[in-house]
Amino acid sequence: MQFKVNPKSISEKALRVIPVLEKDKKAVLLEKLGENNLSELLFSAKKDTSYAFSNGDHLILLIGLGENPEYKNVENAYRRVLSKNAALVEKVVVLDFPLSFPEDLLEPALAGFQLGAYSLGFFKKEKDKKTDFSKLKVEVISTFKSAKEIAERAEKIAEAKTDAFELVDLPPNEITPEYLADWAKKTGKKSGFHVTVFDPKKAKSEGLEAFLAVGRGSAKTPQFIILEYRHPKARYHLGLVGKGVTFDTGGLNVKTQGMVHMKSDMGGAAAVLATTKLIAELNLPINLTSIVPAVENAIDKDAYLPSEVIGSHAGLSIEVIDTDAEGRLILADGLSYLVKNYKADQIIDLATLTGSSIGTFGYECAALFSNKDSLSEALQKAGMSVGEKSWALPMWESYRSEMDSEVADIKNYHGKPFAGAITAAKFLEVFIHEHPEWAHLDIAGVAFGDSEFAKTKSGTAYGVSLLLRFIEGNI
Ligand code: BES
Ligand code: ZN
Ligand code: ZN
Repeated sequence: MQFKVNPKSISEKALRVIPVLEKDKKAVLLEKLGENNLSELLFSAKKDTSYAFSNGDHLILLIGLGENPEYKNVENAYRRVLSKNAALVEKVVVLDFPLSFPEDLLEPALAGFQLGAYSLGFFKKEKDKKTDFSKLKVEVISTFKSAKEIAERAEKIAEAKTDAFELVDLPPNEITPEYLADWAKKTGKKSGFHVTVFDPKKAKSEGLEAFLAVGRGSAKTPQFIILEYRHPKARYHLGLVGKGVTFDTGGLNVKTQGMVHMKSDMGGAAAVLATTKLIAELNLPINLTSIVPAVENAIDKDAYLPSEVIGSHAGLSIEVIDTDAEGRLILADGLSYLVKNYKADQIIDLATLTGSSIGTFGYECAALFSNKDSLSEALQKAGMSVGEKSWALPMWESYRSEMDSEVADIKNYHGKPFAGAITAAKFLEVFIHEHPEWAHLDIAGVAFGDSEFAKTKSGTAYGVSLLLRFIEGNI
């Protein structure tokens, strides 16, 4: 799919998509269709409404955006065009924006439209022809001076989000730690960042013992993936860490609930990998170092045992109370390695870390933790503006002692049915070597879920838009 902005003439026999804000309804219909007497009963322009009809020249699809549309509403409204109205689409779609359309909503509209082409039928024998939009021509009509620039940017955003969807949605026999490492290498070459991958031998010599302990029970080789994007004009260095558990059985503390969803336990990795690609594609003037510890948490004779004491990159011993609290172990090494080897001004980790964060917030928002209020506020605000919500929870010192171990420096689970997301965050904090600006987003409830776009739970790409907004607010 490619956007052609303001072509000399618009194609005949096309689906013409026109967005309508409630307050502009009359003016938009007059501007675009030369009439303004469409019955309120047929089309109100309220949020999430649409109306399709033929005016002789074109098939017209009006999209209602309500009174005050937000980024995510617009993205979703446009995503519906291909994902739900495929039957209306022939070879050409014209995205026709009226004069009054807010400029800042052009990006989510165009990105959302492209996201509509995504579908989950990877393994179906009979590919549905109606869902192959790779050759679709898209003409964009807009009077904004920067329309072309916005279209190019939206294409890159949609591509990164589609990658993040796919990394989460493909099954765990496909998305293995090695697949993530290969993805990073291949993408690094194409988009312009450097990738280093530690195999278990190298990881051992680097002291990544907690990471290796988690991977011990799996036939799939753990991969510690480092992505370095550098820009000559950078004045800011961001470090990212993404939890890359390609499948979480729970280990010997085997999961008795919801295991089938645990291919999504690399949602943090997907967000970090896709964001790194996007930043490179947009050539943003920052330095970015991203780390993805990638492992499968499985069971066999070598699997790590509850009550084992393991080492860590930070040099601290960890008592393993529960092998299902594996994410914090690999993140501990990822964070420690990042802080010790790079001079990032700020570090942010994203992880599908705890069921407890879902117990607290449901599927509405991520749980946000930080040792720096201004960082926490900036992340919260950036996410809010793109519909990727988060809400801060406290990091009070009194929670730290819950993680004290009798035999080791710290334990990986306090063994109590409360404050699970907070105690997990307090565990991570021990491994950042007192870095002054760190934030942790527990995305267990938002990385993967039910949506109007699929019959089954699917990836959301949570984090990609949030991090892009956050980064652009920092440069
Ligand atoms: N991957 C899970 C957390 C999770 C749960 C993600 C539901 C997405 C949806 C994590 O590794 C885990 O198992 N956490 C345990 C920790 C506990 C054993 C301390 C949990 O939250 O129950
Ligand atoms: Zn687990
Ligand atoms: Zn997990």
